[in-house]
Amino acid sequence: AHHSLPVAGTVQTPDQTSVPVTALSGPREGKPDRSFTLTAKKASVALSSGKTVDAWTYNGELPGPEIRVREGDLVEVTLYNEDIEDGATLHWHGLDVPNAEDGVAGATQDAVMPGGSHTYRFIAEQAGTFWYHSHQHSKEAVEKGLFGSLIVEPVEKDRLPDHDIVVLTHVWDGAGTAVGSFDTLKRMEITPGERVKLRLIGTDNWVRRSYTLSGTPFQVTAIDGVDLNEPELLENTDLVLTTGGRYDVEFTMPESPVYLRVDGSLERGILMSSDGAGEAPKPPRPTAVFDPTHYGKAAPTPFDAGSDFDREFTMILDNRLAFFNGAPALYDTINGKVFPNTPMYMVKEGDLVKTTISNRSAVDHPMHLHGHHMLVLSRNGKLATGSPWWSDTLDVAPGETYEVAFVANNPGLWMDHCHNLQHAAAGMTMHLMYE
Ligand code: C2O
Ligand code: CU
Repeated sequence: AHHSLPVAGTVQTPDQTSVPVTALSGPREGKPDRSFTLTAKKASVALSSGKTVDAWTYNGELPGPEIRVREGDLVEVTLYNEDIEDGATLHWHGLDVPNAEDGVAGATQDAVMPGGSHTYRFIAEQAGTFWYHSHQHSKEAVEKGLFGSLIVEPVEKDRLPDHDIVVLTHVWDGAGTAVGSFDTLKRMEITPGERVKLRLIGTDNWVRRSYTLSGTPFQVTAIDGVDLNEPELLENTDLVLTTGGRYDVEFTMPESPVYLRVDGSLERGILMSSDGAGEAPKPPRPTAVFDPTHYGKAAPTPFDAGSDFDREFTMILDNRLAFFNGAPALYDTINGKVFPNTPMYMVKEGDLVKTTISNRSAVDHPMHLHGHHMLVLSRNGKLATGSPWWSDTLDVAPGETYEVAFVANNPGLWMDHCHNLQHAAAGMTMHLMYE
């Protein structure tokens, strides 16, 4: 089901306090259900390869501490910046928070400079898999480590698995060194018959990563933090995840070991078995690539491809060579333009907005819209027939065209950009603005 978003009025938190909410900022009053402190600072961190790197971290950890809350919680996070000269923020990637809590330096707040702090407060309205990262000079900040996972657990206990495992993949400098959960999760002991949920999160600029799960059939139960309707069992199916996107994968632990590999690598993998040991099952060659447009069962949605749209936009993704300071450079463009000359799409609150996104370049562009989830209507001219698929980070592969739609129900100034942050920095960035 589509979640409802913060609107002006009051909201009941689990401890029964009633807190005022405005459309543009989270509740400034009221006792938080969960509070966290994150300090952005430099640290040298040992990676799973043994290599030590100079990272930018939250609390000296890489990835940053996991933020795990419950659906409906009033969450308070205070960010301090110790020594990141560039400044830092916290952006809640995929969580549709009120605009002032979105953490975009230069749009919704100023970057927090060394010695400074900023407090974010929002209600975690959507249960699901999200992540957080700095949104000041994002490309460098995220590459160097200013990110972590953000998990919102559902209130209904029966939706909780026996094992809830975050698999955050980030490869340092493209050098093949994985940062993430692999060290601690390397050999997991799981009792046969128990339910396992893997939360796959792609956080680096390597655009496509392929995840293979061998030893068990599995379901993809959520994409970008939104549950899928009646997901079928899959086997020998390659899960391709682009930067910024998330898949929740679930299975029942069999008697024999299960292995998750990232990009076919044993190094970047997790072995799960009943005694924490065993042989890694040889992954069969994947015979299919996961396609969410035809997965799961259709279910009613608040609008569809046949609806009357208040606004229709087109985004052509491409690149072009241009001269900057006398030197030629390749820019990533939206409708032929480089940010800040890219279009600014204007909407009115309540508008039903349709966007057609075409990729005419030779590389993938995972397009991330802040503050809203987009319903995928069609891919390459074919209507989506599976479960409703709500995306916040939609990978548009070379030659592909997607039609998506969303309700303009979260007023403010929002970013829309490629989450290959190198492309975002090279021009593929625009804004959505409410009149
Ligand atoms: Cu995950 Cu605008 O970012
Ligand atoms: Cu891109």
